[in-house]
Amino acid sequence: MTTRIGMGLVGPGFVGAHHIDAVRRLGFVEVVAIAASSEASARKKADALGVAKAYGSYEALVADPDVHVVHNTTPNYLHVPVILAALARRKHVVSDKPLAMTAGDARRLLDAASDAGVVHAVTFNYRGNPLVQQAREMIAGGELGDVHFVHGAYLQDWLLEETDFSWRLEPDKGGESSAVGDIGSHWCDLVQHVTGRRIVEVLSDLTTVIGTRLKPAESIEAFARGGRDRRQAVSIHSEDLASILLRFEGGAKGSVSVGQVCAGHKNGLWFEVNGRQASVRWLQERQNELWIGRRNAANGTLAKDPSLLAPAARAYAHLPGGHQEGWADAFCNVIRDIYTFIAEGRRMSDHRPPAFATFEDGYHAACVVDAILESHRRGAVWTKVGEAVLTKVRLKPDATA
Ligand SMILES: NC(=O)c1ccc[n+]([C@@H]2O[C@H](COP(=O)([O-])OP(=O)(O)OC[C@H]3O[C@@H](n4cnc5c(N)ncnc54)[C@H](O)[C@@H]3O)[C@@H](O)[C@H]2O)c1
Repeated sequence: MTTRIGMGLVGPGFVGAHHIDAVRRLGFVEVVAIAASSEASARKKADALGVAKAYGSYEALVADPDVHVVHNTTPNYLHVPVILAALARRKHVVSDKPLAMTAGDARRLLDAASDAGVVHAVTFNYRGNPLVQQAREMIAGGELGDVHFVHGAYLQDWLLEETDFSWRLEPDKGGESSAVGDIGSHWCDLVQHVTGRRIVEVLSDLTTVIGTRLKPAESIEAFARGGRDRRQAVSIHSEDLASILLRFEGGAKGSVSVGQVCAGHKNGLWFEVNGRQASVRWLQERQNELWIGRRNAANGTLAKDPSLLAPAARAYAHLPGGHQEGWADAFCNVIRDIYTFIAEGRRMSDHRPPAFATFEDGYHAACVVDAILESHRRGAVWTKVGEAVLTKVRLKPDATA
């Protein structure tokens, strides 16, 4: 691999810095430029991150001939214009989740990316954990037997106080859904990926625990804490807590709790899959362990040790057993899968490594979120995923095929 790939990033906030860190670890990608909402803020971020070029608009960044791959880490409402601008220039696109604020918009992006014939990816980064891949291998290999129950939660506490604020809570910037679109989309993608089964029906009960928040005068980055000065009371209508029942294709049942107002939970993502032979459970906050449950033998905990993992999962572990790997390592695994695919000149119709989620995965996640909103709106009734969207449009064949 001799050619260096040029990366440009739009939206250098909380997660943008991790995209830059991850591509730099690969050794064959150069971070060429970043774009922010003004030239001054772009320059400041570029200097802090050691990036040469700084642009005050995403249009200028996507036009830079040295940028081959555009990363989109802007607030959700900018995903459509930023991605469409990059695709119009036939740049590969790596977007953070959620791909778009509605399934309709996500569908537009999937179609545009297919028409442009470029590589398109969504950073559903929890796929990149070696023990997530191990669980996936075990399920695909039949070690759990027929899967009948898939359940878990994604709980955080960073929006628990009325002074906690994020653009995620404003429908015009984050979308109609807040917690479900923001972190529920991660959980849904993850369990669909691990089990190999799509969520086909949902029943949801959504709650807004904190109905009035004190919005700061200036925007603050995600997870930053602010004081009470210069704040304005605003009504919040999007959910910060959700209870959801799930039905998977093939008949498995499931449930998930999603909340960002649950004291003590920092990044409490966990899932458990129960099959007729065995169970597996993975907790993001103890991500170097995989619990394995059995009926007629002792339960066990598999440690992240490359020598103990299935061959396909081993590629995602880079340190010997006993050395902890974490969030940033799993994120880098996803980025490595995507960039290796690009460097090898592959097309989207080619076989992709497992941790690589595409705009099609982003579209399906958006369909699940839309169905969750729709179920709640209809008074918590079973709602088919894609009822509103999937039935109207058929997936177009990949233009690169
Ligand atoms: N994969 C993950 O685990 C993960 C984690 C956090 C966030 N995200 C996603 O990443 C995206 C960004 O989230 P964040 O937490 O980093 O938000 P953030 O608010 O910290 O950062 C967003 C950045 O975009 C910049 N921006 C705003 N308008 C812009 C414009 N017109 N042009 C260029 N830049 C502009 C802001 O100045 C800010 O620097 C969201 O879609 C979010 O859902 C994903």
